[in-house]
Amino acid sequence: MVVALLHDVGEALGPMNHGEVIGAVLHPFISEANHWMLVNHPLFQTYFYGSHVGIDPNGRDIYRDHPHFEHTAEFCAKYDEVSFDPDYPVEHLETFIPMVRRVLSKKRTAPGQEK
Ligand SMILES: [Fe+2]
Repeated sequence: MVVALLHDVGEALGPMNHGEVIGAVLHPFISEANHWMLVNHPLFQTYFYGSHVGIDPNGRDIYRDHPHFEHTAEFCAKYDEVSFDPDYPVEHLETFIPMVRRVLSKKRTAPGQEK
């Protein structure tokens, strides 16, 4: 949930590589699967809009055999793509504060030092 909530925060700092930005910020606090998903979700998201803007919607297929392909594809379908629907039911931001605090209070690990 926290990863979904924060996954586009990197847009403000690096719109051209926002996945890498938020991946770097949250890397010490999240699983390797979620880190990979954050870094690569912009490419996976083109599956939904690429054909409308002249981008190959199947660009994500270069990672078809990657162990986190399905996790990332599922994230984009369930949480990222639907977030553009103005009628999607939403919770107040305050709802997420305890979740964000819990995730960010985890013992931090340096990138490359994960178990
Ligand atoms: Fe994004």
